[in-house]
Amino acid sequence: MSELYGKDLITTQEWTLDELVEVIKLAEKLKALIQKGEKPPRILDRKVFFMIFYAPSTRTRGAFEAGMELLGGHAPYIDVTTTRIRAGEAVKDVAKMYDLYGDGIGVRVLDKAIDFKYGEGQKIMRQFAEVAKVPVINMADDTYHPTQALGDIMTVIEKLGELQGKKYTITWAYSSKLRGLCSIQSEVLIASRFGMDVTVAHPPGFDLDPRVVEMAKKNAEDAGGSFEIVHDFEEGLRGANVVFPRSWVTWELQKVGATAFGPERELEIHNKYKNWRLEQHHVDDLMAKPAFVTHVLPVFRGEEATDDVMDGPNSIIYEQAENNLYAKMAVLALTMAKEIPI
Ligand code: CP
Repeated sequence: MSELYGKDLITTQEWTLDELVEVIKLAEKLKALIQKGEKPPRILDRKVFFMIFYAPSTRTRGAFEAGMELLGGHAPYIDVTTTRIRAGEAVKDVAKMYDLYGDGIGVRVLDKAIDFKYGEGQKIMRQFAEVAKVPVINMADDTYHPTQALGDIMTVIEKLGELQGKKYTITWAYSSKLRGLCSIQSEVLIASRFGMDVTVAHPPGFDLDPRVVEMAKKNAEDAGGSFEIVHDFEEGLRGANVVFPRSWVTWELQKVGATAFGPERELEIHNKYKNWRLEQHHVDDLMAKPAFVTHVLPVFRGEEATDDVMDGPNSIIYEQAENNLYAKMAVLALTMAKEIPI
């Protein structure tokens, strides 16, 4: 029986390295099968995975829904605005209902749904996990996006092979929109866990959760990699094998929420750093060879990065998005099936 059967995935930090590797290995097998044109076995035959969305999604919903279908199960999409939650029904009662009706629960709760108040999404996620006996899978909250990180590290491994000694730069990039930290922090945690030299570059004020910074340092120490934070865009990129350019909001905003802080005030801060935009010459002149440009998507083209670089020879954004389907399928299979017959 899979050791992961019945287990929640709230953050990759709560799974062992062996468990994370098991997900990637299964994702690779599923990918190989599907790319050969074969159907994967019905590992989740007639199982139901409820997907509870407080916030919108292009990829995560599509990948989980397609993944459940491919594994023989079903993934009902629950938009919380169509439930009784907004009318005041307690989260614990809602969690109990989907626990009774299904075999797994996915929750997405972040950004506007919690007015960018850091920790509120994670609190709701933990409430679901506390009540539900079936596995609860974090489909992105304000703090973590673990299945994204798994698909992304799978892609980096495919491209680079051995990760020890390879530099992964996660850089703040300009955007005229507000975005939370979950993907940033999950990338930092997984890349440091796999022994990469991780650099986070951001202008002053765009700090990560200090607890995540401590975890990343510890991960790097344990795995023989390194972790650093720099405040210069070009310095961050120098010698990087992988770059992920993405915007996120200031730590000050996240302490009080977007409404209290003022979205206009936040964007005035962003506007000071419009030159933090990834362009092809940065990749050519500053990064190591080979160099890979990644993004969890959506990317704000022309702001975070130019079309040239996102559509250019170093970009692996669509391969990364595809691998996210296989990684999510692997998480679903390993947490919701007793046996994995491949
Ligand atoms: N990367 C990601 O989570 O995309 P969506 O917000 O579209 O699901």
